[in-house]
Amino acid sequence: MYRLTDEQKAKVKELLSQMTLDEKIGQMNQESVSIVGGFDVPFEELIEMMTDGRITQDEFEKIMSTAEQDYHEDDIRAGLVGSLMVQDPEKCNELQKIAVEESRLGIPLMFGLDVIHGYRTVYPIAIAEAGAFEPELFERTARMAAKESRTQGVNWHFAPMLDVARDARWGRVSEGPGEDPYLVSQFAKAKIRGLQGDMSSTENYVAACLKHYVAYGACESGRDYNTVSMANSMLYNAYLPPFKAAVEEGAATVMASFNDLNGVPCTVNEFTLRHILKDSWQFPGFVVSDANAIRECVSHGIAADEAEAGVEAANAGMDIDMGTQIYKKTLKQSVEDGKVPMSVIDEAVERILSVKMWLGLFEHPYVPQEAMKRYEVLPKEHTDLAREAAEKSIVLLKNDGGILPLGKGQKISLAGQLADNREEIIGAWAMSWRPDDCVSIRQGLENAGAEFEYFSCCGPEAEINEEDVEKACAYGDVIVAVVGELDSMSGEASSRADITIPGKQQEMLKRFLATGKPVVAVLMNGRPLALKWEAENVPAILECWHLGVQMGNAVANVLLGNKVPEGKLASSFPAVTGMCPIYYNHPSTGRPGGRSKFTSRYLDAGFEALYPFGYGLSYTTFTYDGLEAADAGDSLAVTVGVTNTGDSAGVETVQLYMQDVTASIVRPVKELKGFAKVSLAPGEKKQVSLTLNKKDMGFYKDSGEYVLEDGLFRVYVGGNSKDCLMKEITLTF
Ligand code: GLC
Repeated sequence: MYRLTDEQKAKVKELLSQMTLDEKIGQMNQESVSIVGGFDVPFEELIEMMTDGRITQDEFEKIMSTAEQDYHEDDIRAGLVGSLMVQDPEKCNELQKIAVEESRLGIPLMFGLDVIHGYRTVYPIAIAEAGAFEPELFERTARMAAKESRTQGVNWHFAPMLDVARDARWGRVSEGPGEDPYLVSQFAKAKIRGLQGDMSSTENYVAACLKHYVAYGACESGRDYNTVSMANSMLYNAYLPPFKAAVEEGAATVMASFNDLNGVPCTVNEFTLRHILKDSWQFPGFVVSDANAIRECVSHGIAADEAEAGVEAANAGMDIDMGTQIYKKTLKQSVEDGKVPMSVIDEAVERILSVKMWLGLFEHPYVPQEAMKRYEVLPKEHTDLAREAAEKSIVLLKNDGGILPLGKGQKISLAGQLADNREEIIGAWAMSWRPDDCVSIRQGLENAGAEFEYFSCCGPEAEINEEDVEKACAYGDVIVAVVGELDSMSGEASSRADITIPGKQQEMLKRFLATGKPVVAVLMNGRPLALKWEAENVPAILECWHLGVQMGNAVANVLLGNKVPEGKLASSFPAVTGMCPIYYNHPSTGRPGGRSKFTSRYLDAGFEALYPFGYGLSYTTFTYDGLEAADAGDSLAVTVGVTNTGDSAGVETVQLYMQDVTASIVRPVKELKGFAKVSLAPGEKKQVSLTLNKKDMGFYKDSGEYVLEDGLFRVYVGGNSKDCLMKEITLTF
């Protein structure tokens, strides 16, 4: 929990009172380790040259490879830098030494980095991990990342990413916990506890950064950086809740998003930054822009030039400028011209100094040498946790004929380039891992002692190797084809207009199916895919996402039955791309999708998700009965019986949804309000109890007012968002 003691607050105020305007603005300036030397334009200009096409990506990378790095030592010495993006511990200490021992006031630096799903021990991408529906796991993995990175100099994570996302064309679906505000909120709170919670030593915690504030995941057409428009009631009910939950959990920092929202870029949006975040929610930390985002307000057309963008950002409540130097170059003049009140500067700097104080940087600015060496080799407890998270994130989508788990004596043809790739298993936004730590699916099967042969055959960007395919068809009793996306096909700037499995991989699957042998498709992907053909033709489909360093062992354990799959989907899968955005918690409409032509449906694709939110099979089966929803004063006491009706043990995620049937604005047909995982032996039945707090049964109106309205409610419980038992109850609040 990010909170300061009174003594710390006093120290911050005392320090602030000693600072010059230059030094204050220095704290508001975050430098990227800009690349200079190999060419005569600054790094930021080079980015623009690539963005607007003046140079190609290849030319950009060639220039970058010949350039040196600029750590801005002189500016640090002059007190003109408050934070940097650096991930080398020796370099962090070197730069910190300049700040602490050579600058006038010795204010320590913060070092931020995108540690989204692990630092050295990379665990599943968020869209996958969220499918474990296990906040305790989310917390443990975050805690591991905090400890690994803090001892390497990084004391600020640009994470968790909390963008509710409902359009899988958007590449950054991979970075967030899916489409549901409640699940994303539980994920958010757990990540804050994990990243910031262990304050027993300054080597165990970091400042979290909630991003991207806000509604970035609603970019029009799923195209990254695109415009966002929505009713305030949608903003309040679907996109803000995870940020509010994380602020209440004590998050230290927030990152504003690139997108414009209802006409105002979030970088300069006083309504979201001041009215909601800092005033209404009383957020005590600081706000940082996204990379280059203040400069982009000129492109947005909301500022005539960079100086004006700087004025708008500062006045809107943007405390730190990431990577443009606009604050550094223009804010002093803007203050002297009366365009930015000194009170705005002082408020921003007080917030920044406070987080540094809370991080213990004034007492412990350096990473101890012995701490740096701690993770030279990944501790077994870390790789065990990474494998546990990976196993729990795997979702069984289809298993016709019980092909899975594979029999011990079965010969397996393992096909697909992705099966033998230990780099693509990592996923987007991981930058401190080492290939030697990674276990490919091929290695995982070897480690498990499976009887298999590997055949490359085809990959996301490769032609089919006919000879390989022929061998794969001939060798195994069963063919396991690993297909999907490269990790570069999801993440930032990676929207896809066609989210089917890319390249010729589907053709490869067809060849395998033609043998008449059992075929298993193992998916490696960073977003929900449009799987209409696969769902109709491939008998077994295992959704394995990008699971991090232990992917190979986790997938092998599930394929071979050493681990029963328990993951669920945190995002709906469409049958075809054209159904995007698609999500379960949608309004009813006046003509709910049905069989009739004149309802909200497609002529060529119906209206339902191919695989809905919350969906996931097991190697066993579960049935539900005896749903009860009793009024228990401040809450509803919901109970249901769950029985394992199969012949293997399994874990089921019991999901609780509600519907406000009639309200003063249209409400979703279902909203997740709780979940519980239950482990059941074959034939075992358990009563599962869930609580639905009445205060959570309301909604926000356009005004931002939260209301609870009397009336009829439906309570749904099931193993996914579609197949549920239901009880009606009338409530008066
Ligand atoms: C990127 C991303 C953001 C990241 C930042 C720093 O553009 O939008 O998520 O934290 O820049 O790398």
